[in-house]
This record gives sequence, C-alpha cells and structure tokens, in this order.
Amino acid sequence: MKRKLIVTLLSATMAASLLAGCGGGSGSSSEAKSEAPASSAAEASTPAEASTPAEASGAEESAASDAGTAGGGKIGISMPTQSLERWNRDGSYLDEQFKAAGYETVLTYSDNDSGRQVNDIQNMLADNVDLLVVAAIDGEALNTAMDEAAEANVPVIAYDRLIMNDAVSYYVSFDNYTVGKLQGEFVESQLDLANAGDKTYNIEFTAGDPADNNAGYFFNGAVDVLQPYIDAGTLNVVSGQTDFDTVATAQWNTDTALERAQNVLSSYYADGTQLDVWVCSNDSTALGVAQAVTSDYAGDNSVLITGQDGDEANLKNIVDGVQTMTVYKNVSNESIVTLALAQAMLKGETIDESLIPSFGIDCAFDTESYETSEGNKCPSFLLVPSVITKDNLQELVDTGLYTMGDDGYLAAAQ
Ligand code: GAL
Repeated sequence: MKRKLIVTLLSATMAASLLAGCGGGSGSSSEAKSEAPASSAAEASTPAEASTPAEASGAEESAASDAGTAGGGKIGISMPTQSLERWNRDGSYLDEQFKAAGYETVLTYSDNDSGRQVNDIQNMLADNVDLLVVAAIDGEALNTAMDEAAEANVPVIAYDRLIMNDAVSYYVSFDNYTVGKLQGEFVESQLDLANAGDKTYNIEFTAGDPADNNAGYFFNGAVDVLQPYIDAGTLNVVSGQTDFDTVATAQWNTDTALERAQNVLSSYYADGTQLDVWVCSNDSTALGVAQAVTSDYAGDNSVLITGQDGDEANLKNIVDGVQTMTVYKNVSNESIVTLALAQAMLKGETIDESLIPSFGIDCAFDTESYETSEGNKCPSFLLVPSVITKDNLQELVDTGLYTMGDDGYLAAAQ
C-alpha cells in the first residue's frame, strides 16, 4: 500500500501556537471540532489509510541511533497498568528507546489507579525529570500532577490516550477513529452488507473504558460505518443496547465484558435467536465476549468478533476461529515516534509535519482532531492501524515483534 503522509495544513495562527504545543494554542483558523464525546461521531480530519504492519514497521532503527540526537536528560514514563498486555510492551519499548538514546528513565505502572498515577508523576517531578511521557488511566484525573508539571516547566507528551489538561504539549497515538472505522468496515465487507437485500444480521457491541478518551473514538468509528445498516434494518441490535455508556467496559476489564455478554446472551438469545456479530473495541474485552459466546451461545454458527491490539490470547483465538480480526497497532513504532518527538522538544526544534520523514514510519500530523481543553487544539502525531486476520498473521511476524510457533500460534518475540 502506498505510503501516505497526511498533513493538516496549518494557518499562520496555528503555526505560531504549535511552537508551544497544546497549551499555547489560541484556537485554530478553522472552526473548532468537538472532542469525540461518546454520543457524537469523532471526525478524524485526516483519516489515515491503514498500512500493513510490515510497512508500518519500516523504521529499521530507532531515531536514537542518530548520533546527533544523544540524550543526557531524564525522562518520566508513566504507564497505566500491567494488567492489560499491550502496556507492558509500550513501557519496555519506551524505556529501551530512551535509554538507547542516552537518557535516564523512570518507568512506572500505576495499576489502573488514577490516584497512584498522580503520585507516580509527582515523584517523577520531584526527581527532576526533564520531560514526561504519560498514558493516562483517566484523561480527566491527572490535573494535580499536570498542573505541577506546568508549574515546573516540564513538558508532557500524552502517550496513546489524550489527557484533558493544557500542560500537555503534544499527543502521540494511532488514528483512534480509524481503529473503530476499520472494525466497522470489516463487518460491512465480511457480511457484504451493501448487498444484503432484505437479509438481517443480529449484532451486539462492547465498548471500552469511559475514562479512556480513546474509547469514544473507537466506538464512534465503528458505529459511524454500521449505523446506516442499523437504520435500514440490515443490522439488528437484538438487546437494544446501542449507547456508549450501556455497552462500555470499565478499565477494559475482561471479566466485566464476559459478565455483560453472558447477561445479553441469556436475556436475548436463549430462545434460539441467531447472533451474527459482536463488535468489541479491543482484545481484552473481545476475550471476555468470546468466552461468553463459547460457553453460553447455543447457536451453531460462528460469530464474527472484532478486537484491537494483537494480544497473544486473541491471536490464538484468531488462529482457532474464535475471534475474527484484530486491529493491530505497532507500539514499537509508537515508541520510536515518541522518542523522536521528545528529542525535538528538548532541543527546542519546531514541531510540525517536517519531523515525520525522520521517523521512517507512516504517520499523520493532525492539528484539528484533539483538544486538551475547549478550543485548545493539541498537535498530534497519529500512526496508522492495520487489520489482522488469520490470513495475514505473517505480517505480524514480519515486524520482528512476534514469532510463529510450530503449533501455528504467535507469541511476542522475547
Ligand atoms: C486504549 C488503547 C487500546 C486498548 C485499551 C486497553 O486506550 O489505545 O490499545 O487496548 O486502551 O489498553
């Protein structure tokens, strides 16, 4: 797939405010776009084309290997939890990248406890870190620590999940709306909904943690693709559970997703109603839904289940036909982009799309889609997600981040 650098052109006003990142923004030249609240579609102003993981991992070497970018500072890396597989990878990749570039690092995991994450960040500030990389448990619960960072003039990169505080200078993530869109489009194409005629498919939804700003983008991305089919009666949500708050899953917890799926199955499908699709926003919730479908769904058809992250247990379920797809995000590349951005920030360089070629990674520079507060746009580097099914698992192996065992199952490369 053609590499596509997607850039949102900046007005003069915007360019000036970029120098100061999110906090310095005085609004943009075009009308402000709303955040992606759970109820309204998040408009990804630069929907990136999905690349394949192999392409996306084109960065053979981290930016750290560039002699001109030797570090020498201290970086605080605050991750949300180790109970969700991907954050263990993020934490170690970030730690490795910054250390390889000559930085000292402080890496913490806050066990999905926001109070603890505030404390962890405050300790990093007391430890005189030069920059913070933070994946928030709750994007609205870090103000105390973020205000202290601003007070101390310590810049903050919001990593993967946006933080609702103007102390954040820049945001590095994937195009979260596109993640959801890819899930919706997968369902649309697999069932050939556009040509379904008067056939009706039964579908259910499981969304992510309401405290996670990403969750609304994932859910809206999928629903925006599928809503026309729901309106036309081609898709039928038998439970009637379609609003985000009802289908959301606190802390992305697998058991919580399992329990709700069992309740839905026993309440609406025990009479033999066929279930065709279950859209799950990520793999930890898909694991719970797949377990419920396996144990509590009486139908003999295979249910199309979506996910996100490429977690090992879910990749096994994909090989076994229990889950149908996952949206893969190369978090090693996310750490490379974060390092390069941090280096540019610490050197006082201009931060804009001109940085992207040095990443060697498909990435969009977006100055419209995300705000840290009303009207304060947060300049964002958004990497490109991709769809993985049992037919292209080799692409994960080609990233060098997974190995394929003799049993045909994938494991994260050690
Ligand atoms: C989201 C993240 C996803 C998803 C979830 C659970 O913010 O972008 O990858 O897995 O958290 O960690």
